[in-house]
Amino acid sequence: MATAAKEPHVRTMGHLALHYGAAEDGPKAAKLLQILGMVETQVIPFPNGNFYRFVVDDTHFSRGDGIVYLSALPEPQLKLIETIHEALGVGTANEHDAVKGMRAMMDSDFEASFHFGFLLESLEDLERIILDLKDRAENDPDLKGRIKIGLNRARQGNPDVDARLDASPIYGDVTRYAYGSNGVQAFVETDLLKAGQLGDSMVIELDYVFPGHDQHVLSVVELG
Ligand SMILES: [Fe+2]
Repeated sequence: MATAAKEPHVRTMGHLALHYGAAEDGPKAAKLLQILGMVETQVIPFPNGNFYRFVVDDTHFSRGDGIVYLSALPEPQLKLIETIHEALGVGTANEHDAVKGMRAMMDSDFEASFHFGFLLESLEDLERIILDLKDRAENDPDLKGRIKIGLNRARQGNPDVDARLDASPIYGDVTRYAYGSNGVQAFVETDLLKAGQLGDSMVIELDYVFPGHDQHVLSVVELG
C-alpha cells in the first residue's frame, strides 16, 4: 500500500458545477446547499435564475478549491433532457424498461451512479444535518417532497464504532452497511439539482470517518 505523501498537496479537487431546473428552484437549491453546510460567497442574478458560488467551509473563501458553483441549466441542456424524457416516456405508463431498471438500481444503492461526496470532520454535525433535513423534507415548504435520504452504517466489527452507531439518533436502527469499516455515509437525493443520465435529480453524499484508522470506508473498499 502506498505511504502517505509528506509533501504539500500537488493537486486538490477544485470545484463542482451543479445545476437546478426552473429559476424559482435556484433559491431552494441554494438553501439546501447551505443546510448541507456549504458557505455562500456570491450570488449573481440572471434572467433564467441566479448564479451562486459556495465553498465547503470558511477557510476556502479565497481559494481555488473546495468550491461549488450552482446555476440554472442552460437552455440547450433543458431541451435535451425534455427530449430524452419524451423519447423514453419517463414518468408515463409507457416508460422504457431501461428507465425502470435504472431507477430500481438507484433505489437499491444511492451511489451506484453519478454522485458527489463531502467529508465531514464531525459525526455530530452529520447527524444534526440529517435530522434537520428529515424534518424539512416533511415540513419546510421549500424542501417538502423534494428530498430522499439514505444511510449506510460502518461495516460491523469495531466494537467502539458499533456502540457509537447503536446510540446514534440517525444510525441506531439502520440495517444498510457501507462497503468498508470505520466510517458512515449519508445520501441526500434531490430533484432540486438536475444531473445524471435522465437529468432529473442528483445525489450528494456526506461522509464521516472515525479517527485513528488507516483502513476505513473511504480508504479500502471491502466486498462481501
Ligand atoms: Fe460514494
